[in-house]
Amino acid sequence: MNLLVDDIGELVTNDPARDGPLGLVRDAAVLVEDGRIAWIGRAADAPAADRRIDADGAAVLPGFVDSHAHLVFAGDRAAEFAARMTGERYTGGGIRTTVSATRAASDDELRGTVHRLRREALRQGTTTIEIKSGYGLSVRHEARSLRIAREVTDETTFLGAHVVPAEYADRPDDYVGLVCGPMLRAALPYARWVDVFCERGAFDADHTRAILTVGQAAGLGVRVHANQLGPGPGVQLAVELGAASADHCTHLSDADVDALAGSETVATLLPGAEFSTRSPYPDARRLLDAGVTVALATDCNPGSSYTSSMPFCIALAVREMGMSPAEAVWAATAGGARALRRTDVGVLRPGARADLVILDAPSHLHLAYRPGVPLISEVLHNGVPQCLT
Ligand code: NIG
Ligand code: FE
Repeated sequence: MNLLVDDIGELVTNDPARDGPLGLVRDAAVLVEDGRIAWIGRAADAPAADRRIDADGAAVLPGFVDSHAHLVFAGDRAAEFAARMTGERYTGGGIRTTVSATRAASDDELRGTVHRLRREALRQGTTTIEIKSGYGLSVRHEARSLRIAREVTDETTFLGAHVVPAEYADRPDDYVGLVCGPMLRAALPYARWVDVFCERGAFDADHTRAILTVGQAAGLGVRVHANQLGPGPGVQLAVELGAASADHCTHLSDADVDALAGSETVATLLPGAEFSTRSPYPDARRLLDAGVTVALATDCNPGSSYTSSMPFCIALAVREMGMSPAEAVWAATAGGARALRRTDVGVLRPGARADLVILDAPSHLHLAYRPGVPLISEVLHNGVPQCLT
């Protein structure tokens, strides 16, 4: 059984073998077979197929790859958001509030939230999502968070080093020992990545290096929450350790930018966090001009960025961070794939996963041009049309 997506006005492939930065094909069609792309070309040359979806001249692009989200949590921090909107500063201190609520929640409550947010993201065109632990911060609760995250994605990240939990406040070295030992061992069956919040008030360079090194030795890929709230060693460490991604990158020195530019580490920018903490946005233009690979992701979490919308992040990146619409769309698809070291998503070419978004718009430009408008009309995930209601 194969499926032809036909009458596509503008197809974004991100295939470097095709035209321009987005590899655009006009008047296109895509043939899908066994969950993969089997053929891409002009609609006029399309082969016959068992089933047909008529895109009616609309734009089609790869499903969004959200490479940074914290979906396993309980509770709500709307009051903290409201306080920030009237002048309160974000420090990350609220993380412990969510840790208490998450520990107190049942498995089913957490599962309900994760599945609800996963569906919410899918409705907005996200077909690949990374999910971190980090609101459990005990051996049992971190393993539970990752086990539940695994129900909806293979891209799971052990973030036991999110903050030092209250019960370890006066002995952070002991907490790092716990993270590097029993907690990592309990996380391993469910995790693909290890991450550390490297920031003043969270984990310093020595602690970050220790945790990431032991995680890497255990077979996990490395990613780092780096340079979010102020300058710091996070980006340099990410590059030194060959991290797939340094995330946030809001406060960068020239040396940080140079280090990223000379590396395989992607700078993942999370504009939802600056929006929701009323902070200055990262300078995407500076990174792009230096030759750094940039990804966009939501950072969806109840504290600093409670959005699951990649289109919203694209609009912010274009309006506030100096990205062109094409750069932002690439960063939200192919960029996210690079940040997860994936070659099968974020791109549409024969052999890639058939993860496609059909827009209710004639061009990818509309994602930034029509902010806040629900433009995702259909989503195919692994070649299967998704029910979006
Ligand atoms: O990526 N920076 C650290 N962690 C999250 C925020 C978590 C929270 O405030 O609950 C982030 O922004
Ligand atoms: Fe985050």
